[in-house]
Amino acid sequence: MRNLKILALAHPDLIPPDNPEGFTEAEAYVWKTEYDVMSTLRGSGHEVKMLGVQSELTPIRDEVENFQPDIVFNLLEEFHGETLYAQNVVSLLELLRVPYTGCNPRGQLLARGKDLSKKLLKYHRVPVPAFAVFPIGRKVRRPGRLKFPLFVKSLSEDASRGIAQASVVDTDEKLAERVTFIHKRLKTAAIAEEYIDGREIYVGVLGNDRLQVLPVWELEFSKLAEGSLPIATEKVKHDPDYQEKRGVIQGPAKDLSPTVVTRIRTLAKRICHTLELDGYSRIDFRLSKDDVPYFIEANPNPEIAAREEYAQAALHAGTTYPELLNKILALGLKRAGVE
Ligand SMILES: Nc1ncnc2c1ncn2[C@@H]1O[C@H](COP(=O)(O)OP(=O)(O)O)[C@@H](O)[C@H]1O
Ligand SMILES: [Mg+2]
Repeated sequence: MRNLKILALAHPDLIPPDNPEGFTEAEAYVWKTEYDVMSTLRGSGHEVKMLGVQSELTPIRDEVENFQPDIVFNLLEEFHGETLYAQNVVSLLELLRVPYTGCNPRGQLLARGKDLSKKLLKYHRVPVPAFAVFPIGRKVRRPGRLKFPLFVKSLSEDASRGIAQASVVDTDEKLAERVTFIHKRLKTAAIAEEYIDGREIYVGVLGNDRLQVLPVWELEFSKLAEGSLPIATEKVKHDPDYQEKRGVIQGPAKDLSPTVVTRIRTLAKRICHTLELDGYSRIDFRLSKDDVPYFIEANPNPEIAAREEYAQAALHAGTTYPELLNKILALGLKRAGVE
C-alpha cells in the first residue's frame, strides 16, 4: 500500500502521547487503542494527524480542508458524550466526501439498537434470544412469553456499561429494579433478554461486500467466583487486575465441531449483510449448551487495540497488526471508489 495522509479522529481525552515512556500501565491502558493505531500506522510509513473531537464539527471540516487527508481513520465512539451520535459524525464525513475507515452510518444505526438488530435478524432465521424493551417512564410489565432468567441491559449503550452479575434476574421484582437502574444510571431504555447459558463467542469480520471471517474466538472464565455467571461485565472487560484474578482469557474457541464452526461463520456473514455492516466488525454470540449460536450483538468498529480479541484473531489467521490496519484503510478507500 502507498503511504497515505491520515486524519485520525478520537475522543480528546484519548489522544495518545507520541512517546508512551514514563506513563504507568494504568494511564496507558486508557489510550492503548489510539496509541496502537497511531504508532503502527506511522511505523508503516503513513503520515498520521490525530484530532480530538467531541462537541465541535468545525475542526473536522477545517482539517479535511487544510490537511487534505487521503482518508479519515475513525476511532470515535461518541459525540457530545452520546454513543448514538457517533454515526452522525460518519454521516458528516460522507457529506464532506472524504473516505473513512470502519462502518458506514446506516450499518451503525441498524446494529446499535439491540432490539432493531434482533428483529431484522430473526426475519433472516438467525437465532436470537426472546426480548422485551422497557422505555424510560413506563411501568415495567413482563410479557408472559418472556421466561426467567432474564438479562437486563441498556438498549443502546455498549462497552458493557451497566452490566454486572446483577444484570441476570429471576423475579419480576428484580427485573423492575434492574430496569430502573438502567434508566437512571445510563439514561436509556432497557432491554431484557432471555439469558443464554453457555459460551461467550466473538467473531471478527473484515470486508465490505466480500467478507473475511476471522477465527472463532472465545472469552473464557477459568476462575469464576462461586455462584458467578460467565458473562462479560464491566469489570471483566475493563479491569486488568480483575481479569487476572478471575482467569479471564481470550483465544481461539476450542473443541467446536466443524458443523458448529461452519454454522457460526455462515451466521456471522449473514448478520453483516443484513445489518449492512462494512469495514470491520465483531459479532458476539452466546453458544448454548445444545450448540445453538444465539446472536447477542453486532459491534461496528469494534475495539482494535493490538492485544484485544479482534487483532489477536486476525493475527491467528496470519494477518499481522500493521497488515490489519492497512486492510482497514484499503476497505475505506475502496468503498469511496478511490482505489
Ligand atoms: N441474552 C444474554 N444472555 C447471556 N449473556 C448475555 C446476554 N446479553 C448480554 N450478555 C452478556 O453481557 C455481555 C455484554 O452484552 P452486550 O449486549 O454485548 O452489551 P455491550 O454492548 O455492552 O457489550 C455479553 O458479552 C454477554 O457476556
Ligand atoms: Mg458486547
